[in-house]
Amino acid sequence: MSESTHLVIKDLVVAPTSDPSKHILQGISLTVKPGEVHAIMGPNGSGKTTLSYALMGHPSYQIVSGSVLWKGEDLMEYSADQRARLGLFLAFQYPTSIPGLSVASFLRTAMNARRSGLVRDPEFDPSDPVKGGMTMGEFRKLVKEKLTQLKMDEAFMTRYLNDGFSGGEKKRLEMLQMALLKPEMAILDETDSGLDIDALRIVAEGVNTMLSPELGVLVITHYQRLLDYLKPQFVHVLARGRIVASGGADLAHRLEREGYAPILAENGINPTADEAATPTAAPAPSA
Ligand SMILES: Nc1ncnc2c1ncn2[C@@H]1O[C@H](COP(=O)(O)OP(=O)(O)OP(=O)(O)O)[C@@H](O)[C@H]1O
Ligand SMILES: [Mg+2]
Repeated sequence: MSESTHLVIKDLVVAPTSDPSKHILQGISLTVKPGEVHAIMGPNGSGKTTLSYALMGHPSYQIVSGSVLWKGEDLMEYSADQRARLGLFLAFQYPTSIPGLSVASFLRTAMNARRSGLVRDPEFDPSDPVKGGMTMGEFRKLVKEKLTQLKMDEAFMTRYLNDGFSGGEKKRLEMLQMALLKPEMAILDETDSGLDIDALRIVAEGVNTMLSPELGVLVITHYQRLLDYLKPQFVHVLARGRIVASGGADLAHRLEREGYAPILAENGINPTADEAATPTAAPAPSA
């Protein structure tokens, strides 16, 4: 397999745009190949969300140095919108609500953008199946199938985007988007937070049905629970902006047993009380 299908992160240093001297990520290197599931675990404030935002091109973060290649191309050349069209997907830790925009029209617009690809083909017509688009009927059928899979009510479709949604409902909507957009690289940031055990299982099963040899997944989590379902082949521990340890599923089990303190100490970090907290603690309610 050539690197032209991979996500290749090299020595990535990232700072907030508002404070370029504050290096939140201090040299991250990571390669995700199609079909691989990587988990990133790490204490609060270690830089997990910053990594996912930097990969998606969030304007609040800037790349100080290092590089990210996606299918052999420099990802930094592309806007967040273009990155999504290129097949990257980010499920947000804290999804935004947009009163006035219905879930249905949001999803339809997003799907058409993804289908039309990076360079808008003037021939593309979102409502014409012959010209790459899909009919309303086709869209409804597809959505209905995915709603059933994620055990979501059809009434969601007419509601405003995330407006008044519970934490669990927001996470399911993120998974619905992923199912419809069919990304080639999915970054799931704390998709498990705010979910009770049943909802967690439904969401995890939803992700599992999307796994394929063409899809790379980067799943960010504090807790072993989600990984019991998703079974990553690779687990990385992020602390203070660096990957301090990498291993297989056994590494996640070790963190569950011991908390972060021993592994941080082994890597020369004297953990604060927050950093030492065991990753199996109950999830905080999502915002
Ligand atoms: N825009 C910003 N400006 C200044 N500091 C920031 C900004 N974004 C993040 N930080 C800081 O960078 C550090 C990493 O934040 P980040 O949200 O990436 O952590 P995290 O690992 O996702 O934490 P959590 O487990 O709580 O979700 C934190 O100390 C945070 O306060
Ligand atoms: Mg985070």
